[in-house]
Amino acid sequence: MVGLGPRKPPSRKGSMAGVPKDLLDQINRLEELFTVPQEKLKQITEHFKAELTKGLTVEGGSIPMNPTWCMGFPTGYETGTFLALDMGGTNLRVCEISLPEEKGEFDIIQSKYRMPEELKTGTAQELWDYVADCLQQFIEYHHEGEELGRLPLGFTFSYPASQDYIDHGVLQRWTKGFDIDGVEGKDVVPPFEAALAERGVPIKLTALVNDTTGTLIASAYTDDQMKIGCIFGTGCNAAYMEDCGSVPKLAHMKLDPKLHMAINCEWGAFDNEHKVLPRTPYDIIIDKESPRPGQQAFEKMIAGLYLGEIFRLVLADLHGNPDVCIFEGQDIGKLKKAYSLDASFLAAIEEDPFENLSETADLFANKLSLTATQPELELCRRLAELIGTRAARLSACGVAAICKKKGWESCHVGADGSVFNKYPHFKARGAVALREILGWTGRKDPIEILPAEDGSGVGAALIAALTLKRVREGQNAGIRDPEAMLKGCGGK
Ligand code: GLC
Repeated sequence: MVGLGPRKPPSRKGSMAGVPKDLLDQINRLEELFTVPQEKLKQITEHFKAELTKGLTVEGGSIPMNPTWCMGFPTGYETGTFLALDMGGTNLRVCEISLPEEKGEFDIIQSKYRMPEELKTGTAQELWDYVADCLQQFIEYHHEGEELGRLPLGFTFSYPASQDYIDHGVLQRWTKGFDIDGVEGKDVVPPFEAALAERGVPIKLTALVNDTTGTLIASAYTDDQMKIGCIFGTGCNAAYMEDCGSVPKLAHMKLDPKLHMAINCEWGAFDNEHKVLPRTPYDIIIDKESPRPGQQAFEKMIAGLYLGEIFRLVLADLHGNPDVCIFEGQDIGKLKKAYSLDASFLAAIEEDPFENLSETADLFANKLSLTATQPELELCRRLAELIGTRAARLSACGVAAICKKKGWESCHVGADGSVFNKYPHFKARGAVALREILGWTGRKDPIEILPAEDGSGVGAALIAALTLKRVREGQNAGIRDPEAMLKGCGGK
C-alpha cells in the first residue's frame, strides 16, 4: 500500500477534531454502549466460571458442556491413514491425513467443495446426499482402482451435538445461520452413514468431532502446553480437557475419575438468560431477528457472522435518527438489507491506512452506494473499532473462565477461525483483556492465545486414531459398537 502510511491503531481520538457536536455525541454514546471496562470483564469471567461448572452437573445450565468421548491427548506418536471431513459454513473439506512415525508430524492431501447456499435451508436428505457425493468423489479421485479396506473418518460437525457415543451425536440446535428441517433433535450419524452405504463408499465414521475439540487435539499434537482449543470464526466456542471426576453428569458411567475427557463447552450459549453481558439495543435486535431468538447470546456479540450486522444496525439507526441523520438525503436501500455486511467489511475499515479514510469512503461507495462525509467516516471507523474490540475482550472472558476453573496459571490456547486469523488487532486486544482480567503486570503473559493447528483436518484424524487405538486396547467407554468400529479398519 502506498500513500500516507499506516496509522496508529487502534484509536485515533485526535482526528475527531473536525467532527460536529451531534456526531461527537453519538460517538460518545456508542463508546459508552460498546466499551467493556475491566471491572465488567472480571464480573463476566466470574459468572462464566460458575456457568461452566453448572453445565457439567446433572441439572445442567445454559452452557451445554458436552462430553465428547475424546479421552485424552495424543502422544505425538500416533500413526496411520485417516480421512477427515469438515462441514463448515462455507466449504465442505475432505482431507486424507497420514501420520508417520516421527513425533508430531503429518502429511495431508485435501479437496474443497463449495457448500451451496440453498443446502443450508434445504432438506436433511439433500444435505447428506451432497456430503456423501463429495466423499465418494474424493475417494474415486485419490484412490482410483485401489482395493481399499474401510478408511476411518473423523467428521467435524461444528454444531452442538450431545454425544452418548463418540460416533453418534444428537444435534441440539442449528447455529451459525443453518436452518435445515428435520435434523435438530436427531442423531446426525445414521442418515450420513446411510447415504455412504447407498453409494458403497468404503468409509467408517469413527469419531464425530466438534471443530473446537479438533483444534484442541491438533494443537496439543505439536505443542504439549496447549490446554484449550478455541474457534473465533463464523461462530465462537471452545473445548478443553476435563477430569471425568469433575463431570457429575457422567457419574452414571462409572468412569475412573482420573480419566480425561474433552469437553465441548458450546459457550456461544453463555448468558442466554442475560444476567451479565452488556447487551446494547442492537444486540437485542440481532437476537430477535435471528432464526433462533434467545439462543447463543454470547456468540451473537462476538462471532464473525454478527459483527457486520451489528455495525449495519447502528448505521441504519443513525440514519433514521433526525438529530444526526447520517447519509442525509441518500438512498440507504442497500444498507437496509439484513446481513449485507460481513466482518470483512469492518476489518477493511479498521485496516484503512489513510488519515482521510479514503479506503473506507470507497468501501461505502462500492458496497452500499453511499457517500460518507469526513465526520461520518470517522464515526464509522470508531464504530468498527468498538465492535471489534468488544468482541475480542468478551472472548478473553471465556478463556480466562476456563483457566480459572481449572486453576491453570500458565498454558497455551490454540485458536482458529476467520475472526482470529484475519480481524485486525483481535489477538492483541484479546491479550490486553486477559491481562486486565487476570491482573498480570509482567513482561511475558503466562497464558497465550496462539494460532492453532488444523483442527478439522489433522485434529479430526487424530481423534479417529486415538479412538481406534483405545478400542483396540479394550477401552470402550462411549463406543456404541466396538466390533463394528474395528471391522475393516485394520482391526481384528
Ligand atoms: C457454533 C457452534 C459450535 C462451533 C462454533 C465454532 O458456536 O454451535 O459447535 O464450535 O460455532 O465453529
